[in-house]
Amino acid sequence: MIKAAIIGAGAIAGVHAEAFIRFPELCEVRAVCDIYVEKAQDIIEKHHLNQAKAYRTMEEAIEAEDIDLVSICLPPSAHADNTVKALEMGCHVLVEKPMANSLEECDRMIAASERTGKHLSIVCQNRFKTPMQRIHKMLQDGVGGRVTHAVVNSLWWRGENYYDLWWRGTWATECGGSFTSHSVHHIDLLLWMIGMPDSVTAVMKNVGHHNSELEDVGMAILEYPETFAHIGTSIVDYGEAQEMIFQTEKGRLSIPWSPASATPLPNGFPKQDEAYEKELDDIYHSIPELELEGHPAQIKNLLLAIQGKEPLLTDGREGRKAIELIMAIYKSSALRQTVALPITEEDDFYRKETMIQKMPHFFEKTKSIENFTSTEITLGRDVGK
Ligand SMILES: NC(=O)c1ccc[n+]([C@@H]2O[C@H](COP(=O)([O-])OP(=O)(O)OC[C@H]3O[C@@H](n4cnc5c(N)ncnc54)[C@H](O)[C@@H]3O)[C@@H](O)[C@H]2O)c1
Repeated sequence: MIKAAIIGAGAIAGVHAEAFIRFPELCEVRAVCDIYVEKAQDIIEKHHLNQAKAYRTMEEAIEAEDIDLVSICLPPSAHADNTVKALEMGCHVLVEKPMANSLEECDRMIAASERTGKHLSIVCQNRFKTPMQRIHKMLQDGVGGRVTHAVVNSLWWRGENYYDLWWRGTWATECGGSFTSHSVHHIDLLLWMIGMPDSVTAVMKNVGHHNSELEDVGMAILEYPETFAHIGTSIVDYGEAQEMIFQTEKGRLSIPWSPASATPLPNGFPKQDEAYEKELDDIYHSIPELELEGHPAQIKNLLLAIQGKEPLLTDGREGRKAIELIMAIYKSSALRQTVALPITEEDDFYRKETMIQKMPHFFEKTKSIENFTSTEITLGRDVGK
């Protein structure tokens, strides 16, 4: 039986709790930790974690309960040090997105996992959804031919008071606005589907969140050898339209699914190709639906990987990719230049301290509260349709 601990009892902790309790034959949550120990106790009671005790610190919980696996659900600036500490204390680690605040932190986490031989998995719950799996497989199989253009609209909405929480809205504690905290989901999916680009050109602004140093809208153009992808990020978009469109030589593959194809009329204008659209639709639906999706599916994979029964699907190296692209996006928008990948160790954008010196403060954070009264959250609107 794998003994698990949830570290950080805020908004996302309940999602981890609900995922763990689906697998009573594989694991048991023995501890929930928070600097506000009453929040840990609330999670235990709300999710009926009957075997769990509340602790104030991760170290205390790991030692007292002989923990095998920790779920790090802490603010982003606390991910790297706590991950390394937990790995060194002999635990496997699942860490929430974004993996860390910098590539240097990611590399420290990966090195600790390799040194200790313990699993490190980064939450990428959207990879574990049927539409994403189907489009991923179709792209890997080359359905439709070469990708000629990709469009990612990663559009979200958050009120001004979202940034009142103490750790949000500064480079030091959140280390990124909508690209990092929201569009990291779509960036992870894009890189999983079509890989890392050669270079990035990006711009960003803060148009509506006055209690935050960070961006709330932005655009990034990714250049690949034979195509471009563009990513729009925002947390000012009512309706939170979210889509990923991959144009191939023969037809459109997209999330949400809406196949399209055409043949040229004698003048080059499009004539809908219903036969090929049907072929795409048949291929799409022939790829089986997942029985489990999201956090539960990812957590099941990690539990089985710990038992040596499945390969781990989302390790530290996979999680690092989105951070690398986001750092290139920040470098491009801060320096107003096109940035080539990879970002090397000598680059100012490899380390948090040197990176944040280069970043604009769109506004200064002047209001800060320790906790919200509600921990209710939504996890993206169309991302899994
Ligand atoms: N995968 C997703 O869709 C998703 C959704 C929401 C949040 N997240 C991520 O989850 C992480 C946590 O976000 P949240 O919204 O739950 O934040 P939150 O502020 O609601 O919760 C974090 C908790 O950690 C506690 N804490 C802070 N430092 C601590 C420490 N050193 N030891 C113990 N407890 C400590 C805080 O008191 C707080 O209760 C972030 O990285 C966020 O990006 C992921």
